[in-house]
Parts: sequence; C-alpha cells; structure tokens
Amino acid sequence: MAIIPIKNAEQIEGIRKASQLAAEVLDYVAPFVKPGISTGELDKLCHEFIVEHNAIPAPLNYCPPGYTPYPNATCISLNDVVCHGIPNFNKLLKKGDAINIDITVIKDGYYGDTSRMYFAGEPSIMAKRLAKITYECMWLGIMEVKPGAHLGDIGQVIQDYAENSGYSVVREFCGHGVGLEFHEEPQVLHYGRRGTLAELKPGMIFTIEPMINAGGKSIRAMPDGWTIRTKDRSLSAQWEHTILVTDTGYEVLTVSPNMPPPPNFAKQK
Ligand code: MF3
Ligand code: CO
Ligand code: CO
Repeated sequence: MAIIPIKNAEQIEGIRKASQLAAEVLDYVAPFVKPGISTGELDKLCHEFIVEHNAIPAPLNYCPPGYTPYPNATCISLNDVVCHGIPNFNKLLKKGDAINIDITVIKDGYYGDTSRMYFAGEPSIMAKRLAKITYECMWLGIMEVKPGAHLGDIGQVIQDYAENSGYSVVREFCGHGVGLEFHEEPQVLHYGRRGTLAELKPGMIFTIEPMINAGGKSIRAMPDGWTIRTKDRSLSAQWEHTILVTDTGYEVLTVSPNMPPPPNFAKQK
C-alpha cells in the first residue's frame, strides 16, 4: 500500500485556508444559479472570484496521465452528468436542473477541494431526494473519520445507505488525499467493507465525495475526454468536503459562512 502523507501543523494551516476559500467560492456563486444562466458564465464567475483572492483554479490545464488538459476553472455537472462536466457558454440552465459545482483552489501552494449541489428553480421531488440522500452519504462517511478507523468504514456506511435508499454508488471515481497536490494517497472508495483498507491517523487529509446514481452504477465517458454520464441517463448527485483526521475525530476544512448545515444526525456538540 502506498504511503499516506501526514501533514504537519504549518501544512494543515495552509490547507485549511485553501479549503475555506474553495468553500467561499461555492457560497459566492450560489445566488447566480438560476434558469437562463450558462454553465460557462458560472465558471467565469468562479474563476474571477478565485483569481481576485490570489489563488489559482486547480482544474485549469490539469492533465493526469491519459487525459487532455482540462479546459476550465471548475467542473459543472448537470443532471445525468456524474462528474467532470465541462462548463459551456451555450449550455443554459433550465428550470428544475440539478447541478454540481466542484471547486479546487491552490492558495499559497496548498490545495482545497469541495463541491455542492444546486438547483435552478424548483427541482423535481426525485432530484431533491437524490441530492439529500447523497449529502447524508457524505456526512455518514465523514462521521466515521477518527484515528484507528479504516477507510473501509467510510466506504461501507456510504454504500449501505445509498443502496438501502434504492440508489447506486459510482465505482470508477473516489475521494483522495489532497493538500500538497491535487490528488494524493489515499484513494477513498465510497463502497467497501468495515475494517478493511488503511487505518486513519491524525494529520491525514482527504476528500469524501460520493457520486450516487438514481439508477444503475454504470457510467460512460463522453468524446470530450472528461465528461462522465450515467450509462442509463439516470440522475446523478455528488457532494464533497476536504476532511482532516484530528486526534479525536475529524475537522471539516472546507467550511464557509453559507455552507449547508450538517444533517441533524451529524450535529456536533
Ligand atoms: N475536483 C475533482 C475532484 O474532486 C477533480 C476534477 S479534475 C478536473 O477530485 F480536471 F476535472 F478538474
Ligand atoms: Co472536487
Ligand atoms: Co476531490
């Protein structure tokens, strides 16, 4: 198993700052998500906000092995798009559209990564329920985080809750270590078995970002080389936080003034 980096106090403070800025971008863009705006325009607003805050949008020109450079500052994934939707000035939001906006910033050399779901106007009951269950999946995973827990604990609670709700978990993409690089060890699977995989230790930082489909778990890649859709065209939802393993549990690093509150079952003392 590859080595999972443990961050020191100075690195944690830098990653905390980057994570907060990423979350503040999501606060900033929220009121613009309305029928009639294009995903290209939403990307441009986020890009400008990031640059004005002396940071760099990490996706822009990001080019993992086997990929072409990513063309934009953000990923904006609409309805049946699972992830990595490429913003487009010709793609106008319609009433009831569900979108995920995924922001990763580099601030003073440190990375923070977070995404949220938004609706353009009033969503269908189905889209609303999928986004809510997916949000609860993320939080159930977060609540497993403490020293001595295993990555498989996170995977199992997410998989159990998603599948018991009649949904499926995307397998091909996972959470990841983050902070000094965009994608580091470990991989954080959103399915699995309790007690398996790496043991968590204080100072580890990783994302939890379940992609949950209303239909089957299968996906297909679009010819643009990035956009991922559900194979059966069913709706997909995703939420993402960057999480620090503390001495006693977890700290959500991607916090901001207007972030959605945790579900009632996750309210901390
Ligand atoms: N932010 C995404 C994640 O959560 C990664 C996007 S890669 C990009 O890991 F190049 F598409 F931006
Ligand atoms: Co992300
Ligand atoms: Co991520």
